[in-house]
Amino acid sequence: MTAFSIGALLYEGKAKRVYATQDPDLVAVEYKDDATAFNALKKAQLQGKGALNCRISALLFEALEAAGVPTHYLGVEGSCWMLVRPVAVIPLEVVIRNRAAGSLCREMPIAPGTALEPPLLDLYYKDDAYGDPFLSEARLARLALVTAQQRADLEALAHRVNGVLRPLFAAVGLELVDFKLELGFTADQQLVVADEISPDTCRLWDRATEDASDRILDKDRFRQDLGGVVEAYGEVLKRVQGVCPSPRVYG
Ligand code: TMP
Ligand code: ASP
Repeated sequence: MTAFSIGALLYEGKAKRVYATQDPDLVAVEYKDDATAFNALKKAQLQGKGALNCRISALLFEALEAAGVPTHYLGVEGSCWMLVRPVAVIPLEVVIRNRAAGSLCREMPIAPGTALEPPLLDLYYKDDAYGDPFLSEARLARLALVTAQQRADLEALAHRVNGVLRPLFAAVGLELVDFKLELGFTADQQLVVADEISPDTCRLWDRATEDASDRILDKDRFRQDLGGVVEAYGEVLKRVQGVCPSPRVYG
């Protein structure tokens, strides 16, 4: 039985819709099958992607919560719905890179695959109208989106997430190359992990596969036209469900 009723559409992003519910302390997130890349220049409908990302995100949020990392997650309902706490999301994309890939290699002389120890943390300003630009220290200070303490807290939280997820994925033969987080504040001012954590927002390489394309099990398959996107996400789900608590059903 559904324990919530859908209210007003609060926000529609490229991969999700966020709705109010009858309960002001509960927000419902619908995971869509839409795939986009390069700030939506490239678009497709990938049947089953929404359900896979909803499930994978739920499993990873369960694992984070079990490890004491606060998130917005409250549970799932059906195949594409996640129930979360309302959060004021900070308009920053917090990217942690364990290995060089993607924009880092396009923008600087760092060879793809270079191990980054300690992991690199990059902040981007989350606004599609500006193409989510990289933030220099000076620009971050100028925007004044967070205080110095909040900035330290959000970086520490992102590193804690890496500290939980990296070994979790390693245990199932996946390398967490890099990932993007969105963080925000709950009504009681707790800093929590929000949004989603899925192959749309992580780079995941199959550790048992040598080939640089074949090993990709994330959205780079879509970005690079490699095919097998939904199959790759399915493989990620199959593996992580072996090492995460089962997603709780809301209500
Ligand atoms: P990047 O190499 O393009 O900077 O991406 C770093 C990580 O962030 C990668 O795991 C993909 C993820 N990401 C998003 O989740 N959303 C985005 O809009 C972008 C550009 C990257
Ligand atoms: N999420 C971004 C977009 O749609 C970029 C990406 O993931 O490559 O366009």
